[in-house]
Amino acid sequence: MINSIPKNHRQELRQFYRQQRKQLTAEKQQSAAQMCLQVFLQNIDLTHIKTVAYYLANDGELDPQAMIQFCWQHNIQVLLPVLDPKRKGHLVFVNYQASSPMQTNIYGIAEPIASEQNIVELADIDLIFTPLVAFDIKGNRLGMGGGYYDRTLAPIRQKQLKTQLIGLAHDCQKSEKLPIDGWDIPLNAITTPTQFFKIA
Ligand SMILES: Nc1ncnc2c1ncn2[C@@H]1O[C@H](COP(=O)(O)OP(=O)(O)OP(=O)(O)O)[C@@H](O)[C@H]1O
Ligand SMILES: [Mg+2]
Repeated sequence: MINSIPKNHRQELRQFYRQQRKQLTAEKQQSAAQMCLQVFLQNIDLTHIKTVAYYLANDGELDPQAMIQFCWQHNIQVLLPVLDPKRKGHLVFVNYQASSPMQTNIYGIAEPIASEQNIVELADIDLIFTPLVAFDIKGNRLGMGGGYYDRTLAPIRQKQLKTQLIGLAHDCQKSEKLPIDGWDIPLNAITTPTQFFKIA
């Protein structure tokens, strides 16, 4: 257990917050996932939501599985990020069903197999739930450090797309103030098991 938060250095911050979430027990992870579904339902108007991207939890990330099940049950299309085979460092978002054939990517994370037919354009996605290592209440996000989400989501800012970005996180991932750079794409909201932070 680290007792003090390191200064504003990205790698040190990542190490600290990754360790925090990895210490959560399996029971805590399960209850956090259920609570997050409730926070999501209480705070997001699903009336016009047709397509939502999630991720498969890795490294102690908050598990969106209960939220994915909810969407499947309510005919909301679910997408998952897949490493873009054509553009290094980018992701594509691919349709995901319980029956989707999966493969393991270079990071050991399962992903649906992308094809011309199942990739959904960023502009056609209503909500993207992103994993994160740490967040602050201004909507700043620290990821795992690959820049994948930042590169992929840059067109949302450039083209002013309607796609909303929501970070999913455990409460222990909340940081006082994160260092940010020009390429970092901020979040519109963050959902934790106990709180919904809407960024003005
Ligand atoms: N739009 C972009 N174009 C080119 N390079 C980028 C872009 N966005 C980020 N990068 C590069 O990616 C690297 C990692 O970025 P950063 O530290 O913000 O990762 P992260 O936000 O933690 O990762 P992720 O986006 O995968 O969650 C940076 O050093 C930066 O050079
Ligand atoms: Mg970033």
